[in-house]
Amino acid sequence: MTKEFATLNYDGKEIKLPLVVGTEGEVAIDIGTLRKETGMVTIDPSFMNTAACFSKITFIDGEKGVLRYRGIPVDELVEKTRFIETAYLLLHGKLPNEDQGNKFSTLLTENSLLHEDMRHFFDRFPRGAHPMSIMATMVNALSTFYPNVDTLSLREAVDTSAARIISTFRTLAAFAYKRSIGEPVVYPRHDLPFCANFLNMMFDSPVKPYEMKPEMVRILNSLLILHADHEQNCSTTAVRTVGSAQVNLYATISAGIAALSGPLHGGANQAVVDMLNRIAKDGNVKKYIDKAKDKNSSFRLMGFGHRVYKTYDPRAKIIKQQCHDFLDVMNMDDPMLNVARELEEEALKDEYFIKRNLYPNVDFYSGIIYRAMGIPENMFTVMFALARLPGWIAHWKEMIKSNSKITRPRQIYIGKTPKN
Ligand code: CMC
Repeated sequence: MTKEFATLNYDGKEIKLPLVVGTEGEVAIDIGTLRKETGMVTIDPSFMNTAACFSKITFIDGEKGVLRYRGIPVDELVEKTRFIETAYLLLHGKLPNEDQGNKFSTLLTENSLLHEDMRHFFDRFPRGAHPMSIMATMVNALSTFYPNVDTLSLREAVDTSAARIISTFRTLAAFAYKRSIGEPVVYPRHDLPFCANFLNMMFDSPVKPYEMKPEMVRILNSLLILHADHEQNCSTTAVRTVGSAQVNLYATISAGIAALSGPLHGGANQAVVDMLNRIAKDGNVKKYIDKAKDKNSSFRLMGFGHRVYKTYDPRAKIIKQQCHDFLDVMNMDDPMLNVARELEEEALKDEYFIKRNLYPNVDFYSGIIYRAMGIPENMFTVMFALARLPGWIAHWKEMIKSNSKITRPRQIYIGKTPKN
């Protein structure tokens, strides 16, 4: 860097604001002293141009389509690791050696069983309740079973709490699904690894034992890795914000789940498949492209566009290929994949989408794989949440360790005054 300060001229004064440079060369202006020096604040609704923290967890280059966790490209992690190793990487900063991997795996296994009293909570939700609402409620309820998890004790027991949340969430998710279809729940098994255990809890039944297919385990590992973190997205920001008030970790993660459920965020994976269904029935891709461009319509192409990526989302690139390969290896044909491909092709040559750099994002093709796996549409966002837990917890840990202050933005008041 040639300059160490940015200079602001205001009201005849020259104010020097320090520049901050990240390890990947990103430059920011530190405005921490601005109010003290000038009485002014900055305004940036929806954080379009605000870095809210320093972080060592995930790096994204939205212009080049780069995504790395702890310095490792995500495609490399998909190729070489299982989800729990990537989870360990996010939580601890490096991939586990054999001993660390075994210990983490044991911790997850030991914490997989749900307190039996919690199972009865499921009886009280309406049958049609969305699983994301159930999951947010259940994770929050965990804090009543483990009441001593204030932020101070968590500093010591953070590994156990992280494992408990990740492992119990997996059990809760499968239980929620089983309850929704009126089948008996299937308990976690100590002899099965993380992803296989989840699939067994989802699909095993007393009348038809589940036949575990290695392709299913592989694709699940890979989807979970691809969704495991994405730096300061809406739900992670919710986690950091809520956690900054020193709320217990369960309630904090519950806030993340609630944020993720929105259709502009993780809920988009379910919305994409709803949209593709409608288009498939209608048989008119062009009509939906036109509707998405129409400023008088609130309709958007779900699974398209991103705040940070101004090129093809690197996760979507991998998932698109995997979607094709997975259907192939499972000998399945889903007409929805053809609709998705046609929609993408039409959108990518349309001036509206080109001008605004709108490309498929992570949610565009993932739902087609989940469908092929037999996971119902209303569980898609729960899958996203399961994957994102290590990311949320890693950010929460980083925030707590940095002794960050409570998050409390300012505002510009534009309401009534005593004079009007
Ligand atoms: N379809 C049609 N137009 C779009 C779309 C879309 N999917 N996305 C953005 N635009 C337009 C938008 O109307 C605006 O046009 P104009 O400049 O004429 O006003 C321009 O592109 C910029 O959009 P924006 O809303 O200012 O962008 P944003 O950064 O605030 O929003 C987004 C990002 C992801 C919420 C948005 O692209 C969107 O709503 N996409 C559809 C929902 C979706 O797929 N969400 C998943 C995001 S990735 C995974 C995750 O975060 O969980």
